[in-house]
Amino acid sequence: MHTVLTGDRPTGPLHLGHYVGSLRNRVELQSRHRQFVMIADLQALTDTDPAKVRSNVLEVAYDYLAVGLDPEKSTLFIQSQVTELAELTVFFLNLVSLARLERNPTVKEEIRQRGFERDVPVGFLTYPVSQAADIAAFKATLVPVGADQQPMIEQTNEIVRRFNALTASTTLVECAALVPAQGRLPGLDGSAKMGKSLGNALALSASPDEIRTAVKQMYTDRNHLRVQDPGQVDGNVVFTYLDAFDADAAAVDELKARYRRGGLADTVVKRRLEDVLQATLAPIRARRAPYARDPGAVRTMLEEGCARARAVAAATLREVRQALGIEYFA
Ligand code: TRP
Repeated sequence: MHTVLTGDRPTGPLHLGHYVGSLRNRVELQSRHRQFVMIADLQALTDTDPAKVRSNVLEVAYDYLAVGLDPEKSTLFIQSQVTELAELTVFFLNLVSLARLERNPTVKEEIRQRGFERDVPVGFLTYPVSQAADIAAFKATLVPVGADQQPMIEQTNEIVRRFNALTASTTLVECAALVPAQGRLPGLDGSAKMGKSLGNALALSASPDEIRTAVKQMYTDRNHLRVQDPGQVDGNVVFTYLDAFDADAAAVDELKARYRRGGLADTVVKRRLEDVLQATLAPIRARRAPYARDPGAVRTMLEEGCARARAVAAATLREVRQALGIEYFA
């Protein structure tokens, strides 16, 4: 049995990218493993307005419950409420160099996207260290994340090894990433990543109309001008999404062959994708509604999750302090 830990920044509603990247895996994992799922509000605060973070915490919790994370099976909690995570981050900051942080390709790309350059907040540059603390505090062995998070897992394991070497102990454990075989879901516009801030995301809570509009606006093959022309399937977002969401892989392969040959209209492929997405998201939207009507109950569930999470992190932190020799008054 694994201990699983993962999380999401509450910067907006969760979208299809989160679903394919990690949420689907988590729903699978929760029945066989000990799973912690964290609303990473501290990490969100590294680049997002506090009011926006606060207003999205419950939204993310609704999304979790909507996709089928079950608080009886998974511990759902809020990062900032487990202050041990901040404490462990401070210890870990001594175990990683500025040069190493600046080499993290995901953070590098995010800094470029945000136009920070040298004015990058130190908290932003060091969020992989805080993420390492999240994982290590729970002694997680498996971390279901999207492919873009793989550098964080490598950095976590480096820090864990350094900590254990420094303290000549086996206090902390290394983890493995669980990355979906399918790879990262592109944005609706075909760009490499789906993101709310990139304006190319489809929320899990999207209405039927929003789903319809999103599929209509999706890129296909820009050279596929007439139905009878042969079309390009690779890099065609509509087919990428069918691969990710259509359970009937044989039917999708058939469509691809017809599209490549020529004679299959974009509208036909899009209609199929719209049906698939409507069918995927309808039960999620339906499960979400009663939770969103009862924020008090969801808050209580989170409070219980935070208490459970804090107990686990506090036990690790006692060992960490002992290993570092800073348990002066025990
Ligand atoms: N960086 C993750 C994201 O942007 C969120 C996150 C924070 C996380 N701490 C984590 C993911 C620990 C996995 C494990 O989605």
